[in-house]
Order: sequence, then C-alpha cells, then structure tokens
Amino acid sequence: MPPQITVLDAGGQYCHLIARKVRELGVYAEVAPSETPAAELAGRKGIIISGGPSSVYDPGSATIDAALLETGTPVLGICYGQQLMAHLLRGSVEKGDKGEYGFAQLDLAEGSNSLFRGVSGRQQVWMSHRDLVVEAPDGFEVLATTATCPVAAMGSAARGLYGVQFHPEVAHTPCGKTILSNFLFDVCGCAQDWDPAGQLRALEEHIRQTAAGRNVFFFVSGGVDSTVAYSLCLSALGPDRVHGTYVDTGMMREGETEFVRAHFAALSARSFFVEDARELFLSALAGVTEPERKRHVIGEKFVEVQQRILESEHYLDGRWILGQGTIYPDTIESGGSAKADLIKTHHNRVAGIQKLIDQGRIIEPLSSFYKDEVRAIGRELGLAPELLDRHPFPGPGLAIRCLCTNSEATPERVDEGWIIPLRSVGVQGDSRTYRPVLAVEAVPGSEDQVADLTNRRPDVNRIIGVAHTCAAIASLKVLPAHLTAERMARLRRADAIVRKLSQESGFDQTVWQFPVVLIPLGVPERPDSVVLRPIDSVDGMTARAVRLPAELLGRMVEELMRVEGVAGVFYDLTNKPPATIEWE
Ligand code: XMP
Repeated sequence: MPPQITVLDAGGQYCHLIARKVRELGVYAEVAPSETPAAELAGRKGIIISGGPSSVYDPGSATIDAALLETGTPVLGICYGQQLMAHLLRGSVEKGDKGEYGFAQLDLAEGSNSLFRGVSGRQQVWMSHRDLVVEAPDGFEVLATTATCPVAAMGSAARGLYGVQFHPEVAHTPCGKTILSNFLFDVCGCAQDWDPAGQLRALEEHIRQTAAGRNVFFFVSGGVDSTVAYSLCLSALGPDRVHGTYVDTGMMREGETEFVRAHFAALSARSFFVEDARELFLSALAGVTEPERKRHVIGEKFVEVQQRILESEHYLDGRWILGQGTIYPDTIESGGSAKADLIKTHHNRVAGIQKLIDQGRIIEPLSSFYKDEVRAIGRELGLAPELLDRHPFPGPGLAIRCLCTNSEATPERVDEGWIIPLRSVGVQGDSRTYRPVLAVEAVPGSEDQVADLTNRRPDVNRIIGVAHTCAAIASLKVLPAHLTAERMARLRRADAIVRKLSQESGFDQTVWQFPVVLIPLGVPERPDSVVLRPIDSVDGMTARAVRLPAELLGRMVEELMRVEGVAGVFYDLTNKPPATIEWE
C-alpha cells in the first residue's frame, strides 16, 4: 500500500512517532531518509520533515531535496524540520546556545489558518530544541510565538508549506493531534485508509512469505512485544512450525519464569522451553559498570545462548529463522536511522543479531508498529488482558536498573541539594547525556519547579527526592558495587515489594511503567538505596514522573527499609527528557 504521507527522517528521536501519530489518525504513513529525491515522493499527499539532533549550520547535517518545497505537495516541518525549511527558503535561523526542553506556552497569532483550525489562544506545547527560527521566509506568516521563540509556527497557505518549532506528535502537546489532523485532512486532503488491527491477515501473509517454508524460533521474554510476535507467527504458521525458548538470565523479576511458563502453556504453544542461563549472565557482567557496556554484554550473551541452542539442536540446517518482537521505538532509539544520535543500544540490534539480519534469517513482524498498535493486534488475536496490559519491561532486565561503580565518592552539598556522584543516562534535544543525579530533600511542589532545577543545573540530568534514609545524606557514600547475585536478589526483592503494593492499591493502573532502581548509595552495613520511578507515558518516547500518594509511599518505605542492605528510599521526579525512563 503506497503511503499517503512520508515522514522524512532528519535524525530526530520522535521521527517514527510522527508516522505513528499520522497512522493513529487513520492515514498510512512511512518513514524515509531525509534526502529522498522529490521525484520518488511524487505520489504523496503530504510530506513531514522530522526533528533532528543537528543544527542546519553543522557541516553534514540532514537536509532534504529542496525541490520538494516547490512541487506544490504540502510540507510540514517539525522542530529541526521547520528550521531546515526556513533555512532553505532564506528565512533566518539562529544558533541557540542554551536550548529549551520541556513545556512552553504557545501564543497563537490573530486570524485563522488551516493548520491551527479549532485551536486558539494560549496552548501548552512540548519543546526540545537549541536553534530557532528568528525570521520566517518571504511569503510566510508567523502563526504562533512563545516567550523564547519569535517564530514558534509559520505557514504559507498559498504554497501549502508549514513549520512548527514544538512537537505536535508527543502526548505532552495536547493540541498536537488537532494540528496534525488539520495538516492531513485540510491541508493535504488525505483519506482514512489505516487500521492496525485490520492488518492481521496481511501480517500473517507477510510472515508466511518471509518464512518461505522455514520454521521460526523465538526467544520470548513474557513481555507484550515478543508474546504478540510469537502468537502472530503461531497463527500464521501453526504450532508445529513455531518454537519458543525463554532464557532465564537471572536479570528477571521475581516470579517471572513461572508466569511465562504458565501463559505459554495456555497459548497452545507445543514446544516451549526454559533455558537457565543465570550463571552465564552473572559471570559475564561481573565488574562491568558502564551502561552501554552492560547492554552490549547482555546482547552478546543472548546471541551466544541463542547460538548454542541453535547449534545444539536441529535448528542449524537453514530451515529455521529467528523471530523477534522488535517494535518501532526499539529501532529508532538505537540510532535506527543514519542521522540519529545513539541514545541507548537496544539489545535486539547488537552485532550478532545484525549478522542474522544481514543473512535474511530474521523475522520481526512488529518492527513498524508502536506499543499500542501491538496491543490492538494482540487483542485481535484474542490474547489475555494480563498478557497485553503488562507494563513494559526492558530486554536487559534488572541489570540496567542496578547501578554499579568502581569508586567510592561522597555526595557534594550544593544550594539545591546534594549532587550524588553516580551517573545515569538522559536525553536532551535528541542527544544522549550521562550525568550525575541531584538529590533534594525539600521536594519541589510542582513539575515546573523540577524543570527549573534541571535548567539551573545542567551538570545533572535527573532529580531524586528523598523519601527516607537510615542516616543523614551527608553521611551516605557511593560505594564500589558490581552486579552480584546478592545485589540482584536485593533489587528483585525491592521490585517485588513495590509491585505488590502498587498492584494492591491500584496505583499500577495509573502509571505506564514503574521501574525500581538500586543505586550503590549507603553505609557499609547497608550499601544500597532504592529509587522508585513511577512514570506516565504513551509510548516511552516522552514521559512524565508521577508522584506517589503519601500513604502508599509510606508503606513502601516501611517494607523496603526492612530489606537487607537497603539504606534509603528515593523517588525519581524527572520527566523524559531530560532523563530517560530507565537509569541506564
Ligand atoms: P528509556 O530508558 O530509553 O526507555 O527512556 C524507554 C522505554 O524503553 C524500554 N527500554 C528497553 N526495552 N530493550 C527493551 O526491550 C531495551 O534494551 C530497552 N531499554 C529501554 C524502557 O523500559 C522504557 O519503557
């Protein structure tokens, strides 16, 4: 099916999200490299240029075929896309040195235009940029401004060209859906032609074609993605041609292996195995402290276990291919496109797996879908709600929630609180950061105050609030710590306590995900602290920290402080961006 809309990928973290939002509005969209020649895009109803990590003034930064702006096909530039449009049409783009990340108030210009039809006055929007357009090109009107952006939106109705500095595609721009819908239907004249659940038959056919008579072997995790991908293959190829193995890496949550075993038995999976690889993973991770290194080690071990299983059984003869539950954000956040900055390497994209991809021995039926589309497909397949409504859980498991360090260090007192000398991963303006954490005792009352703290302290990318500590923060230390069976057991226990209390209270249904993180901050007899990270999100691309009800937090603190070795409980107050959801 030819797409009505092509999203040109300028390397932005949200590029695929734009395509998905377009599809959510019922219009089939695909992503293509930013430099795709205009001639190849001739049949499109409209083009969207995504955001991106560079500046239009950087050498080698993403660009588009400028002829696209002359074809009469409507074009919407988002963030970097708007800057690029302004730059190519001789408007003026200024290099920012500070940047703006997070919420902003958008003030719409007087008068009406197609892009903002039905949107008026002052609007909350989500910004993530450094450069900005300061002067719109000739023939363009300024459609909106913010306190920092003189051209927060611009348009030339006569040429069908529009640009916005903010991100209409993220959930945190409430009017974003209306703006995209206006662009699709009013400006481009698109028709509705897309429904993911309606793709079931086509997906099954695609699986049969890709498998081409070969059987599919899955490593399942119990998560939504691999379960739906597996079930799709099961329904496309039948139970005799689909095998599943669950690898117990020792990095899984409490009770997970039993949960998965029970549910796969119920899926009529005829061959399903559990591989105990706990020792292997633990010894490979001994002494590894750097997050990217951890991800690589885990990814490579997965491939090693996989290879061993494939070679020890009858999978070697080319009649078998590997199935994976990879979904869209997995590919984009790993720098899935040429111009994107690497934020985190997804374990489905490490070298060993890349080799299988190159050999054409991989099938990833969900690689162009987002989580909620995957759930819709799962529902269509008749999968149980407790399988589909699980919180997302990362492939590398608890390993990336267990921080490690080689050196001892002391928190540093600053005006705002304490700088904890432990680094975690963040994301800013499409780039990865790896910075220390700020702990605050007087917890800021509002989200704006937290944002203000992260803006005031660019040396940190994450803020945690103190819920309880066994000693004054000044006497806690970051202590050398690695991934050991003991610390994994501690984290697993803490995670199980939090999960139990949040399920019992119904809190888990109000959040999208609730990671529990172990950090090596404590005193010698209690060397670790627990960080609670309840977040709300729609797709994992952006996220909002959720406050825990005081009473629930109190109960969690009480039980967590009884866990052997736990010195304190903190909670993570940071949105994504500037932090990521996981700490590593
Ligand atoms: P971040 O930490 O990047 O996470 O904000 C976004 C979402 O992705 C999940 N995540 C992963 N999922 N393999 C996965 O299957 C991974 O390597 C991985 N890393 C992060 C994370 O839990 C969150 O939902």
